[in-house]
Amino acid sequence: MIKKKIVVFTGAGISAESGLQTFRGSDGLWEGHRVEDVATPEAWQRDPESVQRFYNMRRIACRRAQPNAGHLALVELEKYADVYIITQNIDDLHERAGSKNILHLHGEIMKAQSSRDSNLVYQLQKDELSMEDKCKMGSILRPHVVWFGEAVPNMLIASEIVKDADILLVVGTSLQVYPAANLLYETSKDCKIELIDPNAHQMRINSNVILHSGTASEILPKWVEIYAE
Ligand code: APR
Repeated sequence: MIKKKIVVFTGAGISAESGLQTFRGSDGLWEGHRVEDVATPEAWQRDPESVQRFYNMRRIACRRAQPNAGHLALVELEKYADVYIITQNIDDLHERAGSKNILHLHGEIMKAQSSRDSNLVYQLQKDELSMEDKCKMGSILRPHVVWFGEAVPNMLIASEIVKDADILLVVGTSLQVYPAANLLYETSKDCKIELIDPNAHQMRINSNVILHSGTASEILPKWVEIYAE
């Protein structure tokens, strides 16, 4: 039997049950921190130490977190479909769960990049980046994340992946950040779109999207079980 192509577009919600904070909402990261202070090129120019501290804390949280039943269900899904994960998350929980095809749109917290040349990327062996950590050209290393106001280099690849998907499964994202959220409009007309989120029914979304209200770890294992039947 020919396997279908399933693209899974994930956001912070899929890692919430692993103990990692989402961004928006009452106890989200952007409630406790101003985006302009920690996640923009201007913040880095003004106060790089604070930016490093913010991402150092997040790196430590990420290292302590473990993949949950939602991440693991997506690994199981690979038995039945060609699965491509496009994630907005900078954590490495899809990798640690064992998923094969993963594209990060907003970077990866466990990597650093040169502040002079963003193509110089290094896997980090420690949790804390300091201003003494330099790239091979002698420039300070910054977190390998896409900040607000920066281009999203993997967006073109993501658009290519999505355009011939049979199913697009959207999990745990408020769809408020662009260009990432545009992916929903880049599918073919035959693509079935399904969305899993505790707030699914409150989200303003096209009526042709199938909504599943609930958490990733509740819904995804059941979704995969039904798909496999
Ligand atoms: N399971 C599934 N979804 C959940 C869960 C859960 N257990 N808990 C919360 N959610 C949902 C919320 O209802 C919300 O719709 O996850 C979504 C999280 O939304 P955001 O906090 O806005 O996160 P995200 O959409 O990933 O943010 C996009 O914004 O700040 C930037 O670069 C950052 O990649 C991030 C981007």
